Amino acid sequence: MAERSTGYVFGFATAVCLGCAVLVAGSAVTLKDQQEANVKVDKQSKVLIVAGIVDEDEPRDPAAIQDLYKSRIQLQVIKLADGTVDESVDASTFDQAKAARDPAMSHRPPENSAKVLSVPEHALIYNVMKDGKLDKVVLPIEGMGLWKMMYGYLALESDYNTVAGITFYQHGETPGLGAEVENPVWKARWKGRRIFDDAGVVQFRVIKGSAGPASTDPFRTDGLSGATLTSNGVTNSIHFWMGENGFGKYLEKVRKQKGAS
Ligand SMILES: Cc1cc2nc3c(=O)[nH]c(=O)nc-3n(C[C@H](O)[C@H](O)[C@H](O)COP(=O)(O)O)c2cc1C
Repeated sequence: MAERSTGYVFGFATAVCLGCAVLVAGSAVTLKDQQEANVKVDKQSKVLIVAGIVDEDEPRDPAAIQDLYKSRIQLQVIKLADGTVDESVDASTFDQAKAARDPAMSHRPPENSAKVLSVPEHALIYNVMKDGKLDKVVLPIEGMGLWKMMYGYLALESDYNTVAGITFYQHGETPGLGAEVENPVWKARWKGRRIFDDAGVVQFRVIKGSAGPASTDPFRTDGLSGATLTSNGVTNSIHFWMGENGFGKYLEKVRKQKGAS
Protein backbone atom coordinates (compact mmCIF):
# COMPACT_ATOMS: atom_id res chain seq x y z
CA MET A 1 0.00 0.00 0.00
CA ALA A 2 1.32 3.46 -0.95
CA GLU A 3 2.49 5.54 2.02
CA ARG A 4 0.84 8.95 2.49
CA SER A 5 2.83 12.04 3.32
CA THR A 6 2.50 13.63 6.78
CA GLY A 7 0.95 16.68 5.12
CA TYR A 8 -1.71 14.51 3.51
CA VAL A 9 -2.59 12.81 6.85
CA PHE A 10 -2.91 16.16 8.66
CA GLY A 11 -4.87 17.65 5.78
CA PHE A 12 -7.24 14.70 5.70
CA ALA A 13 -7.75 14.77 9.51
CA THR A 14 -8.41 18.53 9.40
CA ALA A 15 -10.94 18.12 6.58
CA VAL A 16 -12.78 15.37 8.51
CA CYS A 17 -12.83 17.52 11.69
CA LEU A 18 -14.12 20.55 9.80
CA GLY A 19 -16.78 18.46 8.07
CA CYS A 20 -17.96 17.04 11.41
CA ALA A 21 -17.94 20.49 13.06
CA VAL A 22 -20.10 21.90 10.25
CA LEU A 23 -22.51 18.95 10.58
CA VAL A 24 -22.82 19.28 14.39
CA ALA A 25 -23.16 23.08 14.30
CA GLY A 26 -25.65 22.85 11.42
CA SER A 27 -27.85 20.33 13.20
CA ALA A 28 -27.68 22.32 16.47
CA VAL A 29 -28.90 25.42 14.61
CA THR A 30 -31.60 23.65 12.59
CA LEU A 31 -32.87 21.68 15.61
CA LYS A 32 -32.89 24.67 18.00
CA ASP A 33 -36.45 25.74 17.12
CA GLN A 34 -37.69 22.17 17.44
CA GLN A 35 -35.95 21.76 20.82
CA GLU A 36 -37.48 25.01 22.11
CA ALA A 37 -40.90 23.89 20.88
CA ASN A 38 -40.46 20.55 22.69
CA VAL A 39 -39.50 22.29 25.95
CA LYS A 40 -42.58 24.52 25.64
CA VAL A 41 -44.94 21.56 25.08
CA ASP A 42 -43.29 19.68 27.95
CA LYS A 43 -43.99 22.60 30.32
CA GLN A 44 -47.55 22.83 29.04
CA SER A 45 -48.09 19.13 29.68
CA LYS A 46 -46.76 19.52 33.25
CA VAL A 47 -49.28 22.31 33.89
CA LEU A 48 -52.09 20.14 32.50
CA ILE A 49 -50.94 17.16 34.62
CA VAL A 50 -50.78 19.10 37.89
CA ALA A 51 -54.21 20.55 37.11
CA GLY A 52 -55.54 17.00 36.73
CA ILE A 53 -56.54 17.53 33.09
CA VAL A 54 -54.04 15.04 31.67
CA ASP A 55 -53.03 11.78 33.32
CA GLU A 56 -49.30 11.43 33.97
CA ASP A 57 -49.08 7.99 32.36
CA GLU A 58 -51.31 8.79 29.41
CA PRO A 59 -49.28 9.37 26.24
CA ARG A 60 -50.51 12.38 24.25
CA ASP A 61 -49.15 13.83 21.08
CA PRO A 62 -47.79 17.41 21.24
CA ALA A 63 -50.61 18.80 19.09
CA ALA A 64 -53.24 17.42 21.51
CA ILE A 65 -51.36 18.92 24.49
CA GLN A 66 -51.18 22.30 22.77
CA ASP A 67 -54.91 22.21 21.94
CA LEU A 68 -55.88 21.28 25.50
CA TYR A 69 -53.55 23.93 26.91
CA LYS A 70 -54.99 26.58 24.63
CA SER A 71 -58.57 25.71 25.50
CA ARG A 72 -58.12 25.26 29.28
CA ILE A 73 -55.30 27.56 30.44
CA GLN A 74 -55.52 31.35 30.68
CA LEU A 75 -52.24 33.00 31.54
CA GLN A 76 -51.90 36.12 33.64
CA VAL A 77 -48.85 38.07 34.70
CA ILE A 78 -48.92 39.54 38.19
CA LYS A 79 -46.68 41.89 40.14
CA LEU A 80 -45.53 39.90 43.14
CA ALA A 81 -44.88 43.03 45.24
CA ASP A 82 -48.56 43.99 45.48
CA GLY A 83 -50.37 41.03 43.94
CA THR A 84 -51.96 43.06 41.14
CA VAL A 85 -52.45 41.77 37.60
CA ASP A 86 -50.17 43.57 35.14
CA GLU A 87 -51.73 43.62 31.70
CA SER A 88 -48.86 45.64 30.24
CA VAL A 89 -46.75 42.45 30.17
CA ASP A 90 -47.56 39.95 27.43
CA ALA A 91 -48.23 36.70 29.31
CA SER A 92 -47.84 34.55 26.19
CA THR A 93 -44.20 35.55 25.74
CA PHE A 94 -43.20 36.30 29.35
CA ASP A 95 -40.34 34.04 30.46
CA GLN A 96 -40.37 33.95 34.27
CA ALA A 97 -37.16 31.92 34.59
CA LYS A 98 -35.34 34.41 32.37
CA ALA A 99 -36.78 37.34 34.34
CA ALA A 100 -35.52 35.77 37.59
CA ARG A 101 -32.01 35.64 36.14
CA ASP A 102 -32.09 39.27 34.99
CA PRO A 103 -31.05 41.72 37.75
CA ALA A 104 -33.13 44.45 36.05
CA MET A 105 -36.29 42.30 36.27
CA SER A 106 -35.75 40.68 39.67
CA HIS A 107 -34.59 41.30 43.23
CA ARG A 108 -32.89 39.40 46.00
CA PRO A 109 -35.43 38.30 48.63
CA PRO A 110 -34.67 38.29 52.37
CA GLU A 111 -32.67 35.25 53.43
CA ASN A 112 -35.04 32.30 53.37
CA SER A 113 -35.05 28.59 54.18
CA ALA A 114 -36.04 27.69 50.59
CA LYS A 115 -32.71 29.24 49.52
CA VAL A 116 -34.39 31.30 46.82
CA LEU A 117 -31.81 33.90 45.79
CA SER A 118 -33.70 35.80 43.11
CA VAL A 119 -37.39 36.63 42.75
CA PRO A 120 -38.77 38.08 39.49
CA GLU A 121 -40.79 41.30 39.81
CA HIS A 122 -43.48 39.62 37.68
CA ALA A 123 -44.74 36.05 37.86
CA LEU A 124 -47.01 33.82 35.83
CA ILE A 125 -50.37 32.55 37.03
CA TYR A 126 -51.93 29.67 35.09
CA ASN A 127 -55.70 29.97 35.44
CA VAL A 128 -57.32 26.62 34.69
CA MET A 129 -60.72 27.19 33.14
CA LYS A 130 -63.73 24.89 32.94
CA ASP A 131 -66.99 25.84 31.19
CA GLY A 132 -65.84 29.48 31.14
CA LYS A 133 -65.22 29.60 34.90
CA LEU A 134 -62.08 29.41 37.01
CA ASP A 135 -61.60 25.81 38.11
CA LYS A 136 -58.06 25.83 39.53
CA VAL A 137 -54.92 27.93 39.55
CA VAL A 138 -51.40 26.62 38.93
CA LEU A 139 -48.42 28.43 40.44
CA PRO A 140 -44.73 27.86 39.72
CA ILE A 141 -42.62 27.10 42.81
CA GLU A 142 -38.96 26.36 43.50
CA GLY A 143 -36.74 25.71 46.49
CA MET A 144 -33.64 23.93 47.67
CA GLY A 145 -33.78 20.18 48.15
CA LEU A 146 -30.93 18.29 49.77
CA TRP A 147 -28.71 18.60 46.70
CA LYS A 148 -30.11 21.13 44.25
CA MET A 149 -32.95 23.52 43.55
CA MET A 150 -36.24 21.71 42.89
CA TYR A 151 -38.66 23.24 40.37
CA GLY A 152 -42.35 22.45 40.30
CA TYR A 153 -45.96 23.54 40.09
CA LEU A 154 -48.59 23.70 42.81
CA ALA A 155 -52.24 23.57 41.75
CA LEU A 156 -54.87 25.10 44.03
CA GLU A 157 -58.64 24.77 43.80
CA SER A 158 -60.64 27.91 42.99
CA ASP A 159 -60.74 28.80 46.71
CA TYR A 160 -57.01 29.62 46.30
CA ASN A 161 -56.28 27.46 49.33
CA THR A 162 -57.10 23.76 48.85
CA VAL A 163 -54.38 21.74 47.12
CA ALA A 164 -55.43 20.21 43.80
CA GLY A 165 -52.00 18.83 42.83
CA ILE A 166 -48.23 19.08 43.10
CA THR A 167 -45.46 18.18 40.70
CA PHE A 168 -41.68 18.64 40.59
CA TYR A 169 -40.41 18.59 37.03
CA GLN A 170 -36.74 19.30 37.74
CA HIS A 171 -34.65 18.35 40.76
CA GLY A 172 -31.37 16.68 41.70
CA GLU A 173 -32.56 14.46 44.57
CA THR A 174 -31.40 10.87 45.05
CA PRO A 175 -33.40 8.14 43.28
CA GLY A 176 -35.32 6.09 45.86
CA LEU A 177 -34.95 8.84 48.53
CA GLY A 178 -35.56 12.50 47.74
CA ALA A 179 -36.48 11.74 44.13
CA GLU A 180 -39.66 10.18 45.52
CA VAL A 181 -41.07 13.73 45.16
CA GLU A 182 -42.06 12.32 41.77
CA ASN A 183 -43.91 9.34 43.24
CA PRO A 184 -47.58 9.53 42.12
CA VAL A 185 -48.78 7.88 45.37
CA TRP A 186 -47.02 10.50 47.50
CA LYS A 187 -48.28 13.34 45.29
CA ALA A 188 -51.86 12.01 45.41
CA ARG A 189 -51.84 12.41 49.23
CA TRP A 190 -51.55 16.18 48.85
CA LYS A 191 -54.97 16.49 47.25
CA GLY A 192 -57.55 18.22 49.44
CA ARG A 193 -54.99 19.55 51.97
CA ARG A 194 -55.03 23.24 52.80
CA ILE A 195 -52.23 25.79 52.60
CA PHE A 196 -53.65 28.67 54.69
CA ASP A 197 -55.50 28.67 58.01
CA ASP A 198 -58.53 30.93 58.50
CA ALA A 199 -56.24 33.83 59.43
CA GLY A 200 -54.43 33.50 56.08
CA VAL A 201 -51.22 32.13 57.60
CA VAL A 202 -49.37 29.38 55.70
CA GLN A 203 -49.75 26.27 57.86
CA PHE A 204 -49.17 23.44 55.40
CA ARG A 205 -46.09 21.27 55.82
CA VAL A 206 -44.64 17.93 54.89
CA ILE A 207 -44.12 16.09 58.17
CA LYS A 208 -41.79 13.26 59.17
CA GLY A 209 -43.99 10.16 59.14
CA SER A 210 -47.65 9.83 58.17
CA ALA A 211 -50.37 12.44 58.28
CA GLY A 212 -54.06 11.70 58.73
CA PRO A 213 -56.63 12.11 55.96
CA ALA A 214 -57.07 15.59 54.46
CA SER A 215 -60.50 15.93 56.11
CA THR A 216 -59.10 15.70 59.66
CA ASP A 217 -55.43 16.67 59.14
CA PRO A 218 -55.63 19.34 56.44
CA PHE A 219 -52.37 21.19 57.04
CA ARG A 220 -49.98 18.23 56.96
CA THR A 221 -48.99 15.54 54.49
CA ASP A 222 -46.75 12.45 54.67
CA GLY A 223 -42.98 12.85 54.66
CA LEU A 224 -40.76 11.02 52.22
CA SER A 225 -39.37 7.99 53.97
CA GLY A 226 -35.59 8.30 54.52
CA ALA A 227 -35.65 11.75 52.91
CA THR A 228 -36.58 14.20 55.62
CA LEU A 229 -34.20 16.80 54.23
CA THR A 230 -35.93 16.81 50.83
CA SER A 231 -39.32 16.83 52.59
CA ASN A 232 -38.22 19.90 54.55
CA GLY A 233 -37.08 21.48 51.28
CA VAL A 234 -40.57 20.96 49.86
CA THR A 235 -42.16 22.57 52.94
CA ASN A 236 -39.74 25.50 52.68
CA SER A 237 -40.57 25.99 48.99
CA ILE A 238 -44.29 26.08 49.74
CA HIS A 239 -43.82 28.52 52.61
CA PHE A 240 -41.69 30.83 50.48
CA TRP A 241 -43.92 30.92 47.38
CA MET A 242 -47.22 31.06 49.27
CA GLY A 243 -45.77 33.72 51.56
CA GLU A 244 -45.39 37.49 51.23
CA ASN A 245 -42.22 37.30 49.11
CA GLY A 246 -43.94 34.98 46.62
CA PHE A 247 -47.61 34.74 45.64
CA GLY A 248 -48.90 35.58 49.14
CA LYS A 249 -50.16 39.10 48.34
CA TYR A 250 -51.92 37.95 45.17
CA LEU A 251 -53.51 34.97 46.91
CA GLU A 252 -54.69 37.10 49.83
CA LYS A 253 -56.25 39.58 47.40
CA VAL A 254 -58.11 36.97 45.34
CA ARG A 255 -59.26 35.06 48.44
CA LYS A 256 -60.70 38.31 49.85
CA GLN A 257 -62.39 39.11 46.51
CA LYS A 258 -63.88 35.62 46.46
CA GLY A 259 -65.07 35.93 50.05
CA ALA A 260 -66.69 39.30 49.24
CA SER A 261 -68.49 38.09 46.11
C1 LIG B 1 -25.90 8.88 49.17
C2 LIG B 1 -27.03 9.48 49.97
C3 LIG B 1 -28.02 10.16 49.32
C4 LIG B 1 -29.06 10.75 50.04
N1 LIG B 1 -30.03 11.44 49.38
C5 LIG B 1 -31.00 12.02 50.07
C6 LIG B 1 -32.00 12.78 49.42
O1 LIG B 1 -32.06 12.90 48.19
N2 LIG B 1 -32.92 13.41 50.19
C7 LIG B 1 -32.91 13.31 51.56
O2 LIG B 1 -33.75 13.94 52.21
N3 LIG B 1 -32.02 12.58 52.19
C8 LIG B 1 -31.06 11.92 51.49
N4 LIG B 1 -30.13 11.19 52.14
C9 LIG B 1 -30.30 10.94 53.58
C10 LIG B 1 -30.00 12.18 54.42
O3 LIG B 1 -28.64 12.26 54.62
C11 LIG B 1 -30.72 12.04 55.77
O4 LIG B 1 -30.23 10.92 56.42
C12 LIG B 1 -32.20 11.89 55.60
O5 LIG B 1 -32.73 12.98 54.91
C13 LIG B 1 -32.90 11.78 56.92
O6 LIG B 1 -34.23 11.38 56.65
P1 LIG B 1 -35.02 10.42 57.66
O7 LIG B 1 -35.01 11.14 58.97
O8 LIG B 1 -36.40 10.30 57.07
O9 LIG B 1 -34.28 9.13 57.69
C14 LIG B 1 -29.10 10.61 51.44
C15 LIG B 1 -28.08 9.92 52.09
C16 LIG B 1 -27.05 9.37 51.38
C17 LIG B 1 -25.97 8.64 52.11
